[in-house]
Amino acid sequence: MSSGASRSAERAWPALLDAAANARAGRPHQAIAPGRTTAAQELVALHQPLIDRMADGPLTLGQLGQSLDGRIATAGGDSYYVTGEANRTHLHRLRALVDAVVVGTGTVLHDDPQLTVRACVGDHPVRVVIDSRGQLTPDHRLFQDGQAPTLAYRGANADRALGLAEVAALEVGADGYDPEALLADLHARGLRHVLVEGGGVTVSRFLAAGLLDRLHVCIAPLIIGSGRAAVSLPEIARLSDARRPSMRSFAMPPDTLFDCDLRG
Ligand SMILES: NC(=O)c1ccc[n+]([C@@H]2O[C@H](COP(=O)([O-])OP(=O)(O)OC[C@H]3O[C@@H](n4cnc5c(N)ncnc54)[C@H](OP(=O)(O)O)[C@@H]3O)[C@@H](O)[C@H]2O)c1
Repeated sequence: MSSGASRSAERAWPALLDAAANARAGRPHQAIAPGRTTAAQELVALHQPLIDRMADGPLTLGQLGQSLDGRIATAGGDSYYVTGEANRTHLHRLRALVDAVVVGTGTVLHDDPQLTVRACVGDHPVRVVIDSRGQLTPDHRLFQDGQAPTLAYRGANADRALGLAEVAALEVGADGYDPEALLADLHARGLRHVLVEGGGVTVSRFLAAGLLDRLHVCIAPLIIGSGRAAVSLPEIARLSDARRPSMRSFAMPPDTLFDCDLRG
């Protein structure tokens, strides 16, 4: 995106935040892009379905930034950075739209992320960590920085504090935790609109359980060749059993974003 186009998209972003606030309040929620530039129109086109969904009920959105060969990180967990600056801004906009952003243990261990909104205007979401084996320690940034409320679901050690985070007990069976029960608990806490941000294991778990309304997959023009998988689901025997969601694509130079409608 040129810097002019990026400025134009930036001007459209507050209109989308207003539309999202209207959707939450049950008011008309069609965003109107200021001006007539393609970048502003595209920004509205990309986000309006998310806002429409927020008006109808809870939104659960997954996202992944992957290489051409479907990797989100090297085998050792290095993911800085698979996708470019435009996708980073997009990710921060998604955070600003939702009530909560969910990540798995692997992401906290490898990235020590902040999960806050820094690349655009907007409020920080509640940060939710799924620590199903109770192996995280209080020294991670999001447990210490106090920048946003943080909730850690722990399958073990739920009686141990994780810095400033609220700790909730997570039931873990032979097949791991139940993402549907976790989502229901978030909803019960008033966290209705949720971004499952990563990593691949966590997004795949919500996808396999049929819980994602949409999935944003951003494909970057690099080949990692090995490493951590983006989506991994149980094997299917026939291609006719593959999911073929309706899809829109958006240029996010140097990457391409695929917006998959999993309810369509
Ligand atoms: N490109 C992107 O969009 C994106 C987004 C987020 C993260 N990432 C990258 O993705 C990687 C993490 O993704 P992921 O799919 O491996 O995991 P994840 O979804 O963040 O975490 C979920 C699973 O990872 C396990 N896990 C992963 N690494 C572990 C480790 N070193 N030690 C113990 N448990 C570990 C967890 O175990 P338990 O549940 O049993 O605790 C859990 O089953 C990181 O390298 C991160 O940098 C990329």
